[in-house]
Amino acid sequence: MKVLIIGGGGREHAICWKIKSYSENYKIYAIPGNGGISLIGECIKKDLSSFDEILNVVKEKKIGLIIVGPENPLSDGIVDYFKVKGYKIFGPTKKGAILESSKCFAKEFMKKYKIPTADFEIANSFEESIKIIEKRKIPYVIKFDGLAAGKGVRVIENYQEGENYLEEIFIKKIFKGKEEVVIEDCLFGKELSYLIFTDTNTYIPMVPAKDYKRVFDQDTGPNTGGMGCYSPPFYFNEKLEEEIKKKIVEPTLKGLEKENIDYRGVLYFGLMITEKGPFVLEYNVRFGDPETQVILPRLEGDLIEIIESTIEGSLDKIKIKWKEEKSLCVICASKGYPGEYEKGKEIKNIDKVKDVILFHSGTKLENGKILTDGGRVLGITGIDKDFENLREKVYKAVQIIDFEGKHYRKDIGIE
Ligand code: AMP
Ligand code: GLY
Repeated sequence: MKVLIIGGGGREHAICWKIKSYSENYKIYAIPGNGGISLIGECIKKDLSSFDEILNVVKEKKIGLIIVGPENPLSDGIVDYFKVKGYKIFGPTKKGAILESSKCFAKEFMKKYKIPTADFEIANSFEESIKIIEKRKIPYVIKFDGLAAGKGVRVIENYQEGENYLEEIFIKKIFKGKEEVVIEDCLFGKELSYLIFTDTNTYIPMVPAKDYKRVFDQDTGPNTGGMGCYSPPFYFNEKLEEEIKKKIVEPTLKGLEKENIDYRGVLYFGLMITEKGPFVLEYNVRFGDPETQVILPRLEGDLIEIIESTIEGSLDKIKIKWKEEKSLCVICASKGYPGEYEKGKEIKNIDKVKDVILFHSGTKLENGKILTDGGRVLGITGIDKDFENLREKVYKAVQIIDFEGKHYRKDIGIE
C-alpha cells in the first residue's frame, strides 16, 4: 500500500520509520518530508495549506492512506476535505481538532464534563484581561486561545510580565487568530504526556512519556516544541494510570460523544501530576513531537493496522503490544532555537553513530549531504532494558553527531 504522511518533523520521520520497519511492502510518500524521510520514501514539496495540491498528489501517486502529523492542517479541516471525497485519512475532523485549536473551548469543555484542570477565567480584550490579572495571585498562566506552535503559553511571575504579554497579544497582535486568552492557576508537579488511539467508542493507551519543554537544562529558558523525551516516566505506575483513565480519558470521550464529535485519531493529554492527582494542561489532537520518537520504537507490530482500525471504528477488535524496553530521545537543535537560528549547516558523522535511531526533524538532503533546515534538527533515540545504558548510548551518539551551533539538553532522563 502507498501511504502519504503530511508533515516534515521528527514525529513524521518516526511514523515513516515505524511503518517501514514493520514491512518493506509499504511505500512511503511525504509532504513535505525531510532529509531523513527522503532516505526511506519520496518527499514532495507542496503547500500544506492547499488541500487541492495535496489531492493532486494523492490522485497521481494512487495513495491508499493519508496520515496527518501536525495540528494546523487538522484544524484547517484536512480530514473533512479528504473524507467527503472518499479517501482514507487518519486524524480528527475540524470539529474534533478544536480541542487543540481553541484553548478556551478546551477549558470550557473540561469544566462542563468535570475533568480536572486548573481554575481559569477567559477574556477577549486587553482591558478585561488586565482587570483579571490585577486580582490574580502570582504565579499564574496566560494562554493565547489559538495555535501558536507551543509559544502561546507563559507562566507569569510578576504583574509587569503579565501586562507585557497581554499587550503583545491584544495590542501588538503577535499571534494570528481570535484574540482571546485563558488566564489560569499555575499547577505544580510533574508533567506527563498520555496519548491514546481512539475511535470515540473505544480507546487504546500508548506508553506514557515525559517531555522536556524548556530549551535549557533544569527546565530553564523559553518553551520549545520539546527538547527530549523518555518513556516510561519514573513516576508512572498502574494506580496513576487508572486515575488518568477514570478521571480524565473516559470523561473526555463521554464529553466528545455528548457533543456529537465523532473523534477518530490520536488524542494526547498533556497532564500535570500534582499532589491532588492528575490535571489536564492541554489536549493535542495528534501524535506528540518528540513523544512519538520514544513511543513508536516501543510499539510491536503494525502501526497501519491500528490506524486503519481507528478510521474504521473497529479499535475494539485489535490488541496492541508494547516492548518492555525503555526509550529515550535527545533533540539536537540549532543555536538560537526557539528564537532565530541559521540553517544550511552540514551534519557530519551521521554514519558513525551506533545502536541508536536518528529521527530527522529539520534537515534536508542536498547534493548527497544532510544539512540543517530547522530549529529542532535531529532526535537521537535509543531503546534498552537498562536505563543507565540507554542514557549512555544516546548521549554518546549525541556527542558524535556534529554540526555548527549544535545545542542539546544534558539532563534528559535524569528527573
Ligand atoms: P500547553 O500548551 O497548555 O500544554 O502549555 C505549554 C506548557 O506550559 C506546559 O507543558 C507546561 O509546562 C506549561 N503550563 C501550561 N499550563 C500550565 C499551568 N496551569 N501550570 C503550570 N504550567 C503550565
Ligand atoms: N511535545 C509537545 C507537543 O507535541 O505538543
